[in-house]
Amino acid sequence: MKIGDTHYRTIWLGDDDWSVNVIDQTLLPHVFEVRRLESLADAAAAIADMVVRGAPLIGATAAYGMALAAHVDPSDQALEDAFADLLATRPTAINLRWALDLMRERLLAVPVDYRRALAYGLAAEICDNDVATCQSIGQHGSVLIADALARKAGGNGAAGPVNVLTHCNAGWLATVDWGTALAPIYAAHDAGIPVHVWVDETRPRNQGAALTAYELGGHGIPHTVIVDNAGGHLMQHGMVDLCITGTDRTTAHGDVCNKIGTYLKALAAHDNGIPFYVGLPHSTIDWRLGDGVAEIPIEQRDGEEVSHIRGVTGAGQGTTVRLVPQGTAVGNYAFDVTPARLVTGLITERGVCPASRAGLLALYPEQAENAAP
Ligand code: MRU
Repeated sequence: MKIGDTHYRTIWLGDDDWSVNVIDQTLLPHVFEVRRLESLADAAAAIADMVVRGAPLIGATAAYGMALAAHVDPSDQALEDAFADLLATRPTAINLRWALDLMRERLLAVPVDYRRALAYGLAAEICDNDVATCQSIGQHGSVLIADALARKAGGNGAAGPVNVLTHCNAGWLATVDWGTALAPIYAAHDAGIPVHVWVDETRPRNQGAALTAYELGGHGIPHTVIVDNAGGHLMQHGMVDLCITGTDRTTAHGDVCNKIGTYLKALAAHDNGIPFYVGLPHSTIDWRLGDGVAEIPIEQRDGEEVSHIRGVTGAGQGTTVRLVPQGTAVGNYAFDVTPARLVTGLITERGVCPASRAGLLALYPEQAENAAP
């Protein structure tokens, strides 16, 4: 996507052909800064500290983390250590393990001398595939937005825009380009369908207020940031036509794990008869799991993300302030699970399917043997 006149991906190889560049997302929307990753430790820290975030981008960064490790030492032991270090960075997004498994399997299968070049090639391939996958999610999902417009207008298209509610950031910043939940919105907007987006601020780290608003503004898409608790009210008053979110891990039964608060939006959507869709690439499906509530590990992060908030002063100076009384206990659960029964459909690169084992397997029949019963 473009920032100003320049086209960016969220991660790319440096001019030196070995270091890796990422956009520092902890500084957005106030400062745009490119961060150079020069080592496995840099890549692991970038994921853990959320310089990069969003399930597909976490996977892509991990792949480049393996390449940075192979750049220094392509031995079996060094790659196994890199795998373990990167896997420990964040527990919930399955794209991390997906990318690491792929890298480890392919790298260990070739002689040591070939591994460095192969690692960079595979990481680049993962990135390119992610872009194509997200574009395809966008095409399939935009049909749902067009349908919503038709429903709303009684067929004559006069009653736009389509109001889409989204949570967190599942746009191009969360992937290599285009996004998952936001890709259908970009595709619809680019096709001339009028769309307006309700952007949940997404406490505690405000990925909606900071990143989704930044992205949508950059693309000229009308949007309004709302507090996380506003969605139910808007839905009761007919101000939301459909919800689309991303997911960090989807089970073989269609349960979706996404940023904390997603479940409450799905409940409100269900109560108000509003379609609730989830956009995802194949790399976000954990075929081994069935029951997401019971089986998906939920990341708990530092309480300071809840007790404090970051922003800029009127003079544009970055600052952090405390919100809660000193010494107050805080809990920081980063994700929750929305059961499949609350999900209207899954928007994948292969099409839209019901959030169910049968629905997923109809699109991914090659996974029949891996899918949890
Ligand atoms: O904690 P984050 O910012 O990594 O969480 C990101 C999300 O919850 C996204 O919705 C999810 O990764 C899907 S990204 C396409």
